[in-house]
Amino acid sequence: MGIYLGDTFPNFEANTTEGKIKFHDWLGDSWGILFSHPADYTPVCTTELGTMAQMAAEFEKRKVKLIALSVDSVYDHECWSKDINAYIEKAPEKKLPFPIISDEKRDLAVQFGMLDPAERNKEGLPLTARAVFVIGPDKKMKLSILYPATTGRNFDEILRVVDSLQLTACKKVATPVNWKVGEDCMVLPNISPEEAAQLFPKGYHTKDLPSGKTYMRFTPQP
Ligand code: BEZ
Repeated sequence: MGIYLGDTFPNFEANTTEGKIKFHDWLGDSWGILFSHPADYTPVCTTELGTMAQMAAEFEKRKVKLIALSVDSVYDHECWSKDINAYIEKAPEKKLPFPIISDEKRDLAVQFGMLDPAERNKEGLPLTARAVFVIGPDKKMKLSILYPATTGRNFDEILRVVDSLQLTACKKVATPVNWKVGEDCMVLPNISPEEAAQLFPKGYHTKDLPSGKTYMRFTPQP
């Protein structure tokens, strides 16, 4: 089981800290990020959810809705949220700026291919890995990354890829290594020089290469 780039993300139903949801209705016409966690009351997860809470306004600016997933109950999620707030020096009772899905039977973790076979809980069951799924307003999966339970994610990178995904969704460019907003982009290989001249009025430059091929074309961010 698993979900792959370009797939329509399942319109699953789940209990969350903000009530029962049906995923597509919850998403509406926004972008979405579903990020999963091995379990409540675990140290790395607490740092991750705290950091996501601190970064939530940046995602909101980009019209991206956040939703977390962990295998414990809604009640556990609510109690754990107080620790998460305390970790980021916020009032424990403050509501987290995103819901947390309760996947107690691991149905979603199995369906989405999120299990980490190398890390097991006390009962010997595989833990949910640290998945990040970015879903577009068309409900299709635009990006998927999977970290093992033992490695916390870099959420600055998730913000960076959202910027790239949103730019490349509407402009015929790709973003090069370590690209950040405002830096040069690359003209897509399937764009002819004539089309490139029309599409990119600021122009583009081509890197001279030993092969003599002209595939490295840089243009200011459109
Ligand atoms: C953690 O969140 O700290 C964690 C959870 C499961 C395995 C390893 C680390």
